[in-house]
Amino acid sequence: MSQTKTKRMGTKALYQALDQELRLARENKTYKVEVPVDSWQNGVVTAAGRKQVMLASNNYLGLANHPRIQEAARKGLQEHGYGLASVRFICGTQKIHLQLEEAIARFLGTEAAILHSSCFAANEAFFTALFSADFGETGYRDVIYSDQLNHASIIDGIRLSRIAVKTTDSRAYKHNDMLDLERYINMDQADQDRDYRLSVIATDGVFSMEGDYARLDKFVELAKKSDSLLFVDESHSTGVLGATGRGTPEHCGVHGKIDVITGTLGKALGGAAGGFIAGKKALVDFMRQKSRPYTFSNSLPPSIVCASLEAIKMLEEDNHLVEKLRQNTQYFRKEIKRLGFTILEGEHPIVPVMVQEASTAMDMSGHLLDEGVYVRGLWYPVVPRGEARLRVQISAAHEVEDLDKALDAFKKVGKRQGVI
Ligand SMILES: Cc1ncc(COP(=O)(O)O)c(C=O)c1O
Repeated sequence: MSQTKTKRMGTKALYQALDQELRLARENKTYKVEVPVDSWQNGVVTAAGRKQVMLASNNYLGLANHPRIQEAARKGLQEHGYGLASVRFICGTQKIHLQLEEAIARFLGTEAAILHSSCFAANEAFFTALFSADFGETGYRDVIYSDQLNHASIIDGIRLSRIAVKTTDSRAYKHNDMLDLERYINMDQADQDRDYRLSVIATDGVFSMEGDYARLDKFVELAKKSDSLLFVDESHSTGVLGATGRGTPEHCGVHGKIDVITGTLGKALGGAAGGFIAGKKALVDFMRQKSRPYTFSNSLPPSIVCASLEAIKMLEEDNHLVEKLRQNTQYFRKEIKRLGFTILEGEHPIVPVMVQEASTAMDMSGHLLDEGVYVRGLWYPVVPRGEARLRVQISAAHEVEDLDKALDAFKKVGKRQGVI
C-alpha cells in the first residue's frame, strides 16, 4: 500500500515556519496587536499615554472595579483565602462555591447551576459530556442544530463532541434564521434514515459581533414542537438584557423556560473570570460527574466567587445599573446615527459601526486611540469580507460626558476618513 511520505519538521524548521506564519498574518493585517490598559478597567481608562473613553470592554454594568465588588473580593480573600489548590471534587469546594451556584440558578430561574473556570470551558464541557453518554444504548445518532455565528466555544464544543463519539451530526443553520433552522429539523424528522435519539438546538442569546439577539420565544416553541433540548449561551446578555438583567429569556418573555443556559462571570457580572452551566438538577448533577473541564481543572478562587455573589446581589436589589446601561446605549445609538454613521440596528450595548473596508476600520481605530477613544476594529475573517466595523460596547460606567467625548472623536475621525 502506497503512503504519502511525511517530511519531518525538526524544531529549527518549525520555528522558521512559525515566523513565516506570523509574517504572513502581519502582511494580511490579521495579526492581533494588544494595546495595554495602564489603569483599572472602567468607563474611562489610561492607555497609549492618555485618557481614553473605553468602548471595547464587556464591562457592561461597570462592576469590574465597582467599590462593592472590590470590597467583596477583598473579603473573599481575607475570609476564604487566595486559592484552593484543588479541583472542586477533591478539596476545592467551599460553602461559597455552593452559594454562588444557588444564586446563579435563582437569578436565571433554573433548578441548579455548576461553576466552571470559564464559559469557554463550560460550553466545551456541556457538548462533550452530553454526547459522550450512551445511556446504555448502541447504534443511535444525535444531532445538534447550531447558529452559524455561534461563539467559538460552542463550535469547538460541538467539534470536540463529534471527535469524541462520532455519533453526533451537526447542522449549522443561517444566522438567526428560524426558517432555515425549522427546515433542517423538518428535513431530519421526515428522513427515516435520520432517526435521531437526542436533538439539541444551540444558540447564543446575544451575538457578539452583531449585537443582535435570538428570538427565544420562538426558539422555545420550536424546541417544544420538535422535542429538542434548547441550549442558550447568555455571556453577553446576563445583566444586560431584560428589565431586571435576567438576560435574553427575560427580554423575550420566556424567563425560566430555557433548558440549558451557559454564561460567564467575566463580563457584566464583575468581569474577572469564571463560567457556568445552569439547568435542571439532573443535568447539572450529571455535569458534576462527567464534565472533564470541571473534573480536571482548578476551582474558582474565593475572591472571584465572593465578588460574583455580590454582583448577583446587586442585580437582585434593584435594576439601576441595567437601566443606566440601557439609557447610555439608547443615547449612543441615536447620536452616532445622527452624525451620519451606519450602525447595525438593535437594542444591545454592542453597537457595530459599519465602515466596510478593513483598512478603514484599522485606520479609524488607530486615529480614535490618538483622540482618546479605545475601540477595536473587526474585519475579515472575524466578520464577512466588506463588513468591517468598529465594535463599540457601551457600559453603565460611562457618563453622558464620556459618550459625548467619544462621539466628538468619531465625528472628527469619521470626516477625516471620508466615512461620514
Ligand atoms: C458568547 C460567548 N460565549 C462564551 C465566551 C467565553 O467566555 P469566557 O471568557 O468566560 O471563557 C464568550 C467570550 O468572549 C462569548 O462572547
